[in-house]
Amino acid sequence: MNRVLAHTGAKYPIVQAPMGWIARFELASAVSKAGGLGIIETSSGETEACKTEIMKMIELGLPFGVNLPIMFLRDDAMLKFVCTSGVKFVTTSAGSPAKFVAPLKDAGITVYHAVPTVDAAVKCAEAGIDGLVVEGAEGGGFKNPEEVSTLVLLQAIRDRVDVPIIAAGGICDGRGMAAAFALGAEAVQMGTRFVSSAESPVHRNYKQKIVDAKETGTYVLNKKSTPCIRALKSQHMDAIYEEGRMPADVFKSIKDVYFGGDMEAAPALAGQTSGLIHDIRSAKEIVDGMVAEFFSIASRMGGLGAAHNFG
Ligand SMILES: Cc1cc2nc3c(=O)[nH]c(=O)nc-3n(C[C@H](O)[C@H](O)[C@H](O)COP(=O)(O)O)c2cc1C
Repeated sequence: MNRVLAHTGAKYPIVQAPMGWIARFELASAVSKAGGLGIIETSSGETEACKTEIMKMIELGLPFGVNLPIMFLRDDAMLKFVCTSGVKFVTTSAGSPAKFVAPLKDAGITVYHAVPTVDAAVKCAEAGIDGLVVEGAEGGGFKNPEEVSTLVLLQAIRDRVDVPIIAAGGICDGRGMAAAFALGAEAVQMGTRFVSSAESPVHRNYKQKIVDAKETGTYVLNKKSTPCIRALKSQHMDAIYEEGRMPADVFKSIKDVYFGGDMEAAPALAGQTSGLIHDIRSAKEIVDGMVAEFFSIASRMGGLGAAHNFG
C-alpha cells in the first residue's frame, strides 16, 4: 500500500507544490480533479485570501493539502484556521516544524515537513512527523545553499528514516517519478511543471520562459546569505549572480513577474526541469501523461528483474 496515497486520499501520488500566490484554487483544484494532490499556499502572507482559497477546496470535496511555511507566518492565525477548518493534510516548510506537529496532529491532520538534509529529516522523524517532502537542489524556490541533488538526497534520507517520502526537485514527468520511486519515494511533488501548466494563474511570459529555457537556464543565487533561491536567468539575475548577493527587497515587485509578465522585475523562481519542459499542458495532461509513462517504465524494469537481465 502506498502510504502517501493512504495519508492523502489522492488517486495518484503526484503533488502540486505550494507556491506563493500561484498555488491557489484555480491550479490546486485542477490538479486534485486530475487525481493528484493540489496544495494551497500561505507563503504569500495574504491570510484572508488564503483562507478563502482553502474553503473553496473544502467545498470542492476532493483531497488537497495546505502548506504552512513556518518562517513566513507572522502569527498563529493560519495555524488556528487550518486546525479548525476541516483540512486533513498539511506540509510545513522553511523552519523547524517542532511546535507545529502537536497542534496539527491533535486536530487530526497528517503532517509532512520539507527537508533539504539528512539531519533535518532525522530530527523531523524524531519529532513524530508523518512524512517528509525531500527537496533536492534541482528544484525551484528557496533552497539550502549546501546543494545536494535529489538523486543523492533521497537515498541518504531513505537509509536513515522509515517515514513516507514525497520527492521534490528535478521531477517533471514519468521518468523522474520512476527514478524517485526506485530511490525509495512514494510520491513526487512538482513546482516548475505546474507553474507552466495551463491552469497556473501566472502571466504567459513566465510560462514561456520556462518552456524556452535550457537545462542550464537557472541560477542558484544568494548562497552566502538568506534566502538562497533557484530562479530563471535574466539580466536582473545575471547582475545578482555576479554580485554574489541579493538585495533584501528583491521580491517587492514579484507580482509584476507573476501577473504582469515583466520577467526583469524580480526573481522568477523555477528549477532545472525548465530544460525538460517544452510545452504548456493542462494539469490533467500532465498527470495522465506521468502515470502512463511511470507504469510503462515500471513494466520495462519489472521485465528486466523477472528475466534477471540488463536488457
Ligand atoms: C515559483 C515557486 C514558488 C515556490 N514557493 C514555495 C512555497 O511557498 N513553499 C514551499 O514549501 N515551497 C515552495 N517552492 C518549492 C516547491 O515546493 C518545490 O519543492 C519545488 O518547486 C520542487 O522542484 P521543481 O521546481 O523542480 O518541481 C516554490 C517553487 C517554485 C518554482
